[in-house]
Amino acid sequence: MNNCRVSGKPLNLINDFGDQPLGNGFIENKDINKEYFYKMRTGFCEVSKMFQLIEQPEPEQMFHDNYAFFSSTSNYMKEHFKDFHSFVSNSGYLSENPFVVEIGCNDGILIKNFKDNNTSHLGIEPSSNVARIAKELGVNILEKFFDVECSNYVRKEYGSADAILAANVICHIPNILELAKGVKNLLKPSGVMIFEEPYLGDVIKKTSYDQIYDEHVFLFSAISVQYLFNKVGMELIDLIPQKTHGGSMRYVLAHKNYYEIKSSVNEIINNEIEQGLDKLETFQKFNQNVIDSKKQLLKLLEELKLNGKKVVGYAATSKSTTILNYCGISTNLIEHIYDTTPLKIGKLTPGTHIPLRDHRYFKDDMPEYAVLFAWNHADEIIEKEQSFLNNGGKWIFFVPSVKIL
Ligand code: SAH
Ligand code: TYD
Repeated sequence: MNNCRVSGKPLNLINDFGDQPLGNGFIENKDINKEYFYKMRTGFCEVSKMFQLIEQPEPEQMFHDNYAFFSSTSNYMKEHFKDFHSFVSNSGYLSENPFVVEIGCNDGILIKNFKDNNTSHLGIEPSSNVARIAKELGVNILEKFFDVECSNYVRKEYGSADAILAANVICHIPNILELAKGVKNLLKPSGVMIFEEPYLGDVIKKTSYDQIYDEHVFLFSAISVQYLFNKVGMELIDLIPQKTHGGSMRYVLAHKNYYEIKSSVNEIINNEIEQGLDKLETFQKFNQNVIDSKKQLLKLLEELKLNGKKVVGYAATSKSTTILNYCGISTNLIEHIYDTTPLKIGKLTPGTHIPLRDHRYFKDDMPEYAVLFAWNHADEIIEKEQSFLNNGGKWIFFVPSVKIL
């Protein structure tokens, strides 16, 4: 695919990250000979202003009954999604007895709050292992990929929705026009779509290129989201920046001309124009920053290695797959990565094959330096691992710049 998934026009090549494995493809030693790789490159469309992957694996290769990302690992995110529930409930957009649908509900972290408040709800989740956890919490689940066909099915079986919610999933859906058509189809005339995703403005500002991996087919700006939903007769009515995942944006959309448009929409779109999110040059500069960031991280890790320091990684995020493979970091520079996810522990990182250890051994192993791959959860992790700093340990960050804390 060398054309934009939204406008159909040719893409301008921005980054080339070389061959990359699946971001969440944590692998057992016995399987490393059959590991899957694809060419990870990004492109920018000057018509839709959409920043996107040029090629990516099929959704079924990434989302299945052994999906490695469990939303509820972060206590901070659990609180965040309680607030998201309150935001939706108090938004004034819902009818008296609303029906709320969530796309990509994972283990139920958000939709569970609607269930707990006896709101009629449905979570749509194709990865059956995480969907099972949500079901066990009593959440109503449909194990499907959301698309137009799915939207027809839900409308027929459950009725139209007051609100369609999503977090960190709309950017995962390659056939995004189909997604937008499905949303339009399933919403009541007064219905709203409220979703949040890592924000392109933050990625560009912080050179957080680890947000680019197979699952993130797109990194959205308000300008590109407006262009996309305009194609199906919808418009942005509100925008609310979020702190999560290193900087996200919450987008509120409705059928055209139904609701008043809040001032946030123009303000944020004007900021984006000022930042140059609509200009090719901004992305070309971003690519240079990515190359510089890689050089700086490698320089630091190589120096530490030469000085005989013990360096590990903390949190085997899917984002870390991009960093490790692009920079060529393996056990030559990082001994282990510590993580809380049972499904990952004992496996190896995708492509670079660094062993994953249970986070409970982090303190006992007494590393001198730890690269914090979940820099987006820094406050939560640094607080939890206070004794690491107290014992002279040092955290290494690479976003927004390479530095030692
Ligand atoms: N909303 C959660 C999960 C994000 S991970 C959170 O913010 O933490 C993305 C989730 O979306 C995965 O569980 C994946 O299985 C699911 N997903 C991917 N494509 C989807 C699609 N087309 N329709 C519905 N869910 C999808
Ligand atoms: P996140 O940044 O949400 O993931 P991703 O980049 O994969 O979308 O981080 C989730 C990963 O971080 C998951 O493997 C668990 C790990 N983690 C810890 O090990 N400890 C923690 O305290 C937190 C919050 C996450």
